[in-house]
Formats: sequence, C-alpha cells, structure tokens
Amino acid sequence: MGQAGLVSFMNVGIVMLIIGFSVLFLMVRFELGPASGLSPVRKWIMTLALGSGMVAFSIKLMIIATLVNFPAQTIRLFAAQQTDPLQLEREAPNAETPIVRLPGLQKAYVWRTLPETAPAPKWNPTTPEKVVLGERLFHDTALSIDRTLSCSSCHDVRNGAGEDHRPGSLGVGGQVGSRNAPTVWNSGFQSVLFWDGRAASLEDQAAGPPVNPAEMGMPSLEAVEQRVNENPAYRDAFARAFGADQPITIRQITAAIAAYERTLNTSDTPYDRFVRGDRQALSAAQLRGMALFQSVGCILCHSGPNFSAASVFDPPPAALRLFPAFDAPHYVKRYQLDKDVGANTPGSKQAVWRVPSLRNVALTAPYLHNGSVDNLHEVVRIMATLQRGKRVSNDAADNATLVWSSRDRTLARIEAAPLSDRDVDDIVEFLKALSSDRLLARSQAGVL
Ligand code: HEC
Ligand code: HEC
Repeated sequence: MGQAGLVSFMNVGIVMLIIGFSVLFLMVRFELGPASGLSPVRKWIMTLALGSGMVAFSIKLMIIATLVNFPAQTIRLFAAQQTDPLQLEREAPNAETPIVRLPGLQKAYVWRTLPETAPAPKWNPTTPEKVVLGERLFHDTALSIDRTLSCSSCHDVRNGAGEDHRPGSLGVGGQVGSRNAPTVWNSGFQSVLFWDGRAASLEDQAAGPPVNPAEMGMPSLEAVEQRVNENPAYRDAFARAFGADQPITIRQITAAIAAYERTLNTSDTPYDRFVRGDRQALSAAQLRGMALFQSVGCILCHSGPNFSAASVFDPPPAALRLFPAFDAPHYVKRYQLDKDVGANTPGSKQAVWRVPSLRNVALTAPYLHNGSVDNLHEVVRIMATLQRGKRVSNDAADNATLVWSSRDRTLARIEAAPLSDRDVDDIVEFLKALSSDRLLARSQAGVL
C-alpha cells in the first residue's frame, strides 16, 4: 500500500473514532445517564468503558490494513480527489534529477531522469584535455592491426547511434563476430559492461577490442602502446592530459578513451523532458506504455534512469539475470537463444546476461546479444514471454500461468493477463520516447 493510501486510511479511522465517541457520549449524557442517575464522573467512565471495545476494534482493523496489502482501489475511495487527469505527484521540483511517480499502480515506482555527466573513478577524473584526446583515440584506425578499424567503425558516434546496425560486428579481415555491438551512448552509467558483464569499468573494457583477434587484431597491449607512441602528434595531447614527461602507456590510452565515453550521454529525450515537468512531452500511447512498462514488470530489470539494473544507480548484484527466465521453446529455437550462455559457466543449460540499457533502443536495431531480432515489437513480445512469463494474445480466457519448480517443489501461479497487440504497440511507443532528440534528428536526416 502506498504511503498516501495508508495515511488516508488512518485518517478515516480517526474520524470514525471521534464520531463514535461523540455518539456514545451523547447517549450516556442524555439517555443512560439520567435514567440511571449516575454522577458526571461515572458518566465519563461509562462512556470510556463502552467505547473501549470500539477502540480495540479500530486498532485491529488498522493493523490488518497495514499487514494485508490493502487493495489500492479501496484506498483510492478515501484518498483526496486528484484534479489532474494524469494523477501525477511531482516531487522535489527543484532537485537536480526530478522524480515522478505514477500513482494508481500497485507500488509507487520512481521515474528519474539521467544526469548530464557520468560518474568517473577517483583516479581518472573526466577533464576536457582527456576527453579531446580520448575522442581522437576512439576514431584512430592505428589501434587495429591493418589500420582499417577504429572503435567508431563498430560504434559510430559521430553519425550514428553508437553501434553498427549489424547482428555481428565486422572485425579485421572481414571476420564476423557472434555478438551484436551495443551502443556506447550512456555506457558511462553502466556498472558492468559487455553483454555478459565481464568488464567492470570503461577503462577495463577499452583494453579489450584492440587485442581481440576478431575485432582489431593487435598482437599485444604493448603493440598498441607502440602504435600510439609512433605518432608524434599525440605527444602534446598526452602531455596536456596527463602531465609532461610521462610515457604513453595503455593505462593512459584507456583512461582517455573512457573519459571521452563518459561524455556520450543522452538525457535529451521526450521521457526526460516529461519527468522534468513537460506534460506534453509524451503522447497518450507513450504514457500508457510507460504505465505498462511498470505494471508488466519490465522495471524489475530495466530499472532506474538508464533503464538497466546493471547501472551505477542500482547495487551491482542486480546486474546479471537469467535470459530466458521462463520456458518458451519456440522463441529459443527461432532466435537461437541457446547457442551462447553469456555469463554462465560454459556448458550450462541456462544463460545469464547483463541487463542492457534501453536508452536509444529504437535507434539501435538489431536486438539481443546475437542481434537475431530486428523488430522492436518482437523484442517486447519476447521479453514479456521469456522474462515475465506473460502470454501475448488478445484472448483473455486464461489469465494466469502455472510455474512448477521440480527442484523446490513449488507451484507458483503467476497473474499473467495476456499482453494485447495494443499493449505491445504502446510499450514500443514508450521505448521510442527514450531516443535522444539529437540522435533522432540525425536518423531522420538520413545519416544514421
Ligand atoms: C569489430 C567491431 C568493434 C570494434 C572495432 C570495437 N568494438 Fe566495442 N563492442 C563490439 C561488440 C561486438 C561488443 C559486445 C561484445 C560482447 O559483449 O561480448 C562491444 C562492446 C563495447 C562496449 C560495451 C558497451 C556495453 O553497454 O556493455 C564498449 C563501451 C565498447 N565496446 C567500446 C569500444 C571501444 C572503446 C573500442 C575501441 C578501443 C571498441 N569498442 C572497438 C564491437 C566492436
Ligand atoms: C528478468 C529481467 C528482465 C525483465 C523483467 C525484462 N528484461 Fe528486457 N532484457 C533483459 C536482459 C538480460 C536482456 C538482454 C538479453 C540478451 O542478452 O540478448 C534484455 C534485453 C531487452 C531488450 C533488447 C535490448 C537491445 O539493445 O538489444 C529490450 C528492448 C528489452 N529487454 C525490453 C524489455 C521490456 C519491454 C520488458 C518488459 C516487457 C523487459 N525487457 C523485461 C532482462 C529483462
């Protein structure tokens, strides 16, 4: 039960008590009192004695209402009338990251905007000098063995949404990788990186691709250092970023790239504008999709301002999740979801993946770790089925799923009112509201 609901229920309890006692007092004063000839003090004692049962009863009711999650609808009968049709409660209007709750849903979930800057580790503060240097390194093909690929070949940030629109990326020598390139936009807010979460920071991550034989193909990190040292134009830039007379090392190279990546943030979305207070920023369908995103339970994993539990806004244990979590063999087969177990031990039956951010997701097809799905509607259906045990249909005949665990010998009945086509459409509309205005303008101009 929401805090507001509980408070209003208490209020009703107190008002009832006052009315009850008034009636009792009047009865004793004008009826019982005169008839029995009691003294004034005794009349008070009698009122209290008669009322004690009522007090006990009210207290019992309140305890029960607090323990049993009292249905929100009942509470709303008592709650103060909201004048706003959206029933929005705005909180902390002047705070740096505004907060919006959508009441009326089972549990208040706090929607937050993305801060402008991504947090940096103490040892590698984001300075303008490092960012300029990092941008240059990010776009330098000297980091690949045949000087054909830079980070931006697979993560196009100047003209694109920070990825390559391919199911598997093209590495040196035309090799096709088995995993989809995630966008680097907003990756500074992620607590772990890669589809399987194997890198703990952007600095760690940046040392991977240059020496990955299927990506940039350099023989060693020393070879990468040597390539950067060979270019005299870098000397000044490194001196400005890290101080003069320091050797150029892989630690500095990756620190500069990470500092640059921490500036690639997109809080310029309709969603963020809405949370900051612009009621017109979201369409009716998007608002409905937003409520569904919560009520269907997408927020259990895609939580917080970066729409990922694997972000700096959530504690790290939330980062990795089973996918698929529920059985749906047709999806698993069609999209080959059993070929790669992600972060789980190789050979395991079940796959575990890092929860990806959903910001700009409408601009970064194809989807999933293997890039096997190119349609956002289909991904939403897959997520609802495989991650929430929902049925996706317009037939409302059976609205619960039974899940039997033979290990724990438990039978769980999961309320799963099927998701209709319109629900799926509206969730997709909401996901589109997570696209950056800047990136969207580029895509509409045909650059992306
Ligand atoms: C050949 C294509 C390719 C190149 C070149 C490349 N990447 Fe990637 N990048 C990928 C793929 C594919 C993944 C996902 C791999 C995985 O999860 O196993 C990825 C993942 C990432 C991620 C993690 C994003 C997230 O949300 O987890 C970051 C950050 C990143 N790359 C940055 C870089 C940087 C910096 C460089 C240059 C030093 C670079 N990439 C070069 C293809 C590439
Ligand atoms: C139990 C956790 C969980 C829940 C609940 C969940 N997701 Fe996901 N979601 C994931 C994981 C893990 C992945 C990465 C899957 C992979 O590795 O291919 C993912 C991937 C996605 C993607 C693809 C992102 C990309 O860049 O390819 C979208 C879109 C998405 N989820 C939307 C949703 C929606 C909408 C809901 C609610 C219907 C939802 N998710 C519910 C865990 C979850």
